[in-house]
Amino acid sequence: MAEVRQRKTPAAATEKQETDSSTTADVQAAEPEWSWSDYGSWPLSVRWAPAYVALIGVFIVVYYVTYVGDPGLDMSSTESCIATFNYTFRINAARHQAEQLSTHSWELGTAGEAIEELVDPQKTVFGRDPFPNDKIPSQGLHLDQALIWLYQKIRTTDQTLFDDDFAVSDPAALGAEENLLNEAPRYINGAISHRSEVAELWSDAVSMVPPFLAYYGVAMNDMNMIRTAFRQIQLYRDVLSINRGPKKGLWKHIVGPSELADEGCWSTGNGWAAYGMVRTRATISAWRPSSEVMTEEVKKLDQWVGEILDGAIETDDDESGLLRNYLGDDSWFGETSGTSLLTATAYRMAVLKPEVFGQQKYLSWADHKREAVIERVDDDGFAKPAVDPLKHSSRKPTESSPEGESFLLMMGAAWRDCVCAGVCPPPA
Ligand SMILES: *[C@@H]1O[C@H](CO)[C@@H](O)[C@H](O)[C@H]1NC(C)=O
Repeated sequence: MAEVRQRKTPAAATEKQETDSSTTADVQAAEPEWSWSDYGSWPLSVRWAPAYVALIGVFIVVYYVTYVGDPGLDMSSTESCIATFNYTFRINAARHQAEQLSTHSWELGTAGEAIEELVDPQKTVFGRDPFPNDKIPSQGLHLDQALIWLYQKIRTTDQTLFDDDFAVSDPAALGAEENLLNEAPRYINGAISHRSEVAELWSDAVSMVPPFLAYYGVAMNDMNMIRTAFRQIQLYRDVLSINRGPKKGLWKHIVGPSELADEGCWSTGNGWAAYGMVRTRATISAWRPSSEVMTEEVKKLDQWVGEILDGAIETDDDESGLLRNYLGDDSWFGETSGTSLLTATAYRMAVLKPEVFGQQKYLSWADHKREAVIERVDDDGFAKPAVDPLKHSSRKPTESSPEGESFLLMMGAAWRDCVCAGVCPPPA
């Protein structure tokens, strides 16, 4: 009795004023007379006890939500978490910049993917059920904002979805092409060239080609196409990955016969490779038929993404907190584009394979890189300094990188999905 009366005070005080006065009187009068076996004889304070307990519960929850966690964040479901998530930077401004600035094929494809991840995450390969009934999701009545935007930018009347004299793989960032599989030059090991003029491998191509081939394979119910996606990654890695020394695990940027060859570990290029592998991996593991027969391939992809992340962590020594434009080369400035994309990679892997990538080593690294990038996002949504995306070896950073803005969206969406999956800690 005493306990019940004591506990009711903090929470019940305001709401139960009316019952309070009568209760106190009742209890004193009724105390000697009531018995447990006769409900009718119970004083009101005893009858009300469960309500007090419930009120205290409500009070604790309200207190926690108000004073402890992010006040706006509603973690009661994935959807409510996504809807109430605070990205802590001007992500809508960044989205606007990505839409305005993107003109090249790969920029459009990357912006489309980034907007989809931001706005319609359940339809991407990172959603909870990307392939309902083993099929790609249909548009239905709700048209994706990313697709509406992209449809205005592409053509469907030629060999490629976009006019590009230079590259074969970049237009593939936008979608399916016969051109890619049958007409593009091949490197000596069979890897599809990034360029149309010469057989040349760029780490960039891993974000353009394999994720698309894998998704196309699901759409066409074609397991061979999905295997081709994996095989292409493997061929690229065979040529570009560095397997010893201080840059172990990182990928060279460009190997081939032209003057563009670049043995350095371009930060953005490593991001392209890693994030392309993550998207391919997520596609394979989300589609039931491929997940059943490609467990070894998924394991390898996890390992290969891990090699790049480990290499980035190992060479992460610039005082800006950003990754250098060329990883492991201390003559280079820290910049936001590669840092954002590799951070997005770490958050995605944390959800896909928490046993490994949910560890502090990766999570707190990703949080630090994210904070270093977000500190440098201005009121117009620009992250800078960013490498000049058209001149990766320029010592002069840019203030407005189209792909850099898309990477920012990908980082924001990947962080949000990691928090909402309960793997990353909620923002303080
Ligand atoms: C989002 O987080 C930032 C930084 O923690 C904070 O300054 C801002 O007020 C928050 N916005 C909202 C709408 O809660």
